[in-house]
Amino acid sequence: MTTPVKPINLFEYETCAKEHLSQMALDYYASGAWDEITLRDNRAAFERYKLRPRMLVDVSQRDLSTKILGQTLPLPILIAPMAFQCLAHPEGEIATAKAAAKLGSTMVLSTLATKSIEEVASVSQNPNYRLWFQLYVHRDRGLTKSLVERAYKAGYQALCLTVDAPVLGKRERDMRNQFVLPQGMELANLTPLSDLEIGYKPGESGLFAYFLEQLNPALTWKDLEWLQSLSPLPLVVKGILRGDDAVRAVECGAKAIIVSNHGGRQLDSAIASIDALSEIVAAVGNQADVLVDGGIRRGTDILKALALGAKAVLLGRPILWGLAVGGEAGVQHVLELLRDELDIAMALSGCAKLSDIDPSLVVALKYLNINY
Ligand code: FNR
Ligand code: LAC
Repeated sequence: MTTPVKPINLFEYETCAKEHLSQMALDYYASGAWDEITLRDNRAAFERYKLRPRMLVDVSQRDLSTKILGQTLPLPILIAPMAFQCLAHPEGEIATAKAAAKLGSTMVLSTLATKSIEEVASVSQNPNYRLWFQLYVHRDRGLTKSLVERAYKAGYQALCLTVDAPVLGKRERDMRNQFVLPQGMELANLTPLSDLEIGYKPGESGLFAYFLEQLNPALTWKDLEWLQSLSPLPLVVKGILRGDDAVRAVECGAKAIIVSNHGGRQLDSAIASIDALSEIVAAVGNQADVLVDGGIRRGTDILKALALGAKAVLLGRPILWGLAVGGEAGVQHVLELLRDELDIAMALSGCAKLSDIDPSLVVALKYLNINY
């Protein structure tokens, strides 16, 4: 009998996860839109940035804490909002939340979660357990309002509005599979309010059809005022790829911006999120916290993102791989691996704390000829 080998990095988690997921779930998690150019580029882009480490710095004590929305977080890694986590493991979002609580990583709960806002909130009393709620604005304003109110009441600490999905991107693997939620799995935040569901649509992804029917594609900057009037929660805008949009978001009251192309799942050929970061950091200055997600798989990716001006990163698919392989323990291990890689990468580049990670630490490959 062969002893199962514990994954030692996030890529190995991805390989192992494939054995634990149905084809439909695996395709839904892994896919990007159309030709998946952005999906691939989110990873490839990191290889275009190189590090310029400093030597002979005392790095005997290292501190990975950061400040987001005025609060200190023990590590600069948040868990990106991802729908339907029960497809990976029966405990779904509950298992992810328990791991987040242990590590002190803020979890962003998706509107389309398979565990409810309230269940996820009750997972831990640990003061380092912080939740944000990700909002998809439904055509039904009453439903949208009640989601925000429930999140506030349950103790979530920010409202994360996703702005890059007026319609769902076309993921062709999901079209081919006619993606649908398995019997017994529900949109836990929505079913008590109505009988909304991700149902079978011939030749189409059920989720694509759901977005078309239920989500409000007429949402504009003007609606941000209404959304902020629903609760005192600080607004985080997720899915920004341009400096001018980031400035607009801040003018409309956003306290943080998440630079993101939705993991390559929305507009294919959109710029890699790490490539969009510098422009947005420059445009926003210190008026809001800038975070980034998309393709973060190594500690050095985080180091690069922080050097380019992000305050923290969000981790997407690797959380689902960890969840599929080992539930709560798997998610915890994924977060620990990444945290420990960042810690080592900092030591090797002469950074004892996150504020030591400055722009001079990184160089973009396309400028190499100019700089040297
Ligand atoms: C997502 N993402 C996402 N974003 C969001 O705002 N609300 C959501 O419900 C979801 N759902 C979702 C499901 C799955 C399966 C994936 C892979 C992604 C996007 C997510 O928050 C994040 O932007 C990307 O996943 C980050 O890229 P990586 O880390 O997966 O490369
Ligand atoms: C996705 C949606 C739910 O990316 O955001 O699948």
